[in-house]
Amino acid sequence: MLSVTVIAGKASEDLAKRLAKKLKADFISSDLRVFPDGESKITIKAKPKKGKVVIVNSTCPPVDSNLMQTLSLISKARQYTSNIVSVIPYLGYARQDREFLPGEIVTLSVITKLLKAAGASKVIVVDIHSQIGLKHFDIPVKNISAVQELVNHFKKLKLKNPLVVSPDLGGAVRAEEFAKFYGTDFIALKKQRDRKTGKVEIMTSNLDGVKGRDLVLVDDMISTGGSIVKATEFLKKQRCRRVYVACTHALLIDNAEKKIRKAGISGIISTNTIPGSTSIVDVSGIIAKAI
Ligand code: R5P
Repeated sequence: MLSVTVIAGKASEDLAKRLAKKLKADFISSDLRVFPDGESKITIKAKPKKGKVVIVNSTCPPVDSNLMQTLSLISKARQYTSNIVSVIPYLGYARQDREFLPGEIVTLSVITKLLKAAGASKVIVVDIHSQIGLKHFDIPVKNISAVQELVNHFKKLKLKNPLVVSPDLGGAVRAEEFAKFYGTDFIALKKQRDRKTGKVEIMTSNLDGVKGRDLVLVDDMISTGGSIVKATEFLKKQRCRRVYVACTHALLIDNAEKKIRKAGISGIISTNTIPGSTSIVDVSGIIAKAI
């Protein structure tokens, strides 16, 4: 039988451990030293066996450092095997998947080239920002949805007449999938983001059908919290009941969590693609199934 070794990057240690347990695989952790100039020096604590090596590391903040560490781990594993699965639970740069303004660089396509050049034979990601991102890979890539796992959590919360809401039209398909598993309906708001300043505005005007209902705002990620705060302020004006947030990747930059709670959110539920105070839903099971 093919031996499987899971190597944990520093951004995803706990998730990698859980994954190794589910796969009954060997587990190797890594040591990290960051030099005063910001360079990362990463060391694996043991040699992987020949066979399949699974490297788990999210490229969450500090994004470029975690990316460099992921590439370094892949390149180290390449000394032992050519069967390398790079699991990047949260893929940073996934929002840079097209040229929105003239002259912009589609950085995601640079990253996919780097992953291949370092030696990855397959990449697994969880809830990539948009399906367009997958087109930039020319090695096998699998995008896993955490929606069912998030819904399983929400089913335990006993919300009142829940309605699923996407804060923008781009997330409508995700909200629809969430609502289908949840057994309820969904709507998508119209959001506009200034491509230069990043400022967000909700363009939807009055809404029927949210009054008195508990809402679940579903998004792939929360970064600064701007989208969720604007959507919540709008939805509260429509006299909804409680508002919860379900997201896969909670980056929660600076004091995003505080801002979101101040806007009147009753609960933020995210997955452990990024470890943090809201990462309640474990995705190791769905990743294990995909390996
Ligand atoms: C955008 O389309 C994404 O799906 C998220 O809504 C967005 O990236 C969240 O960013 P922020 O929390 O900074 O508004």
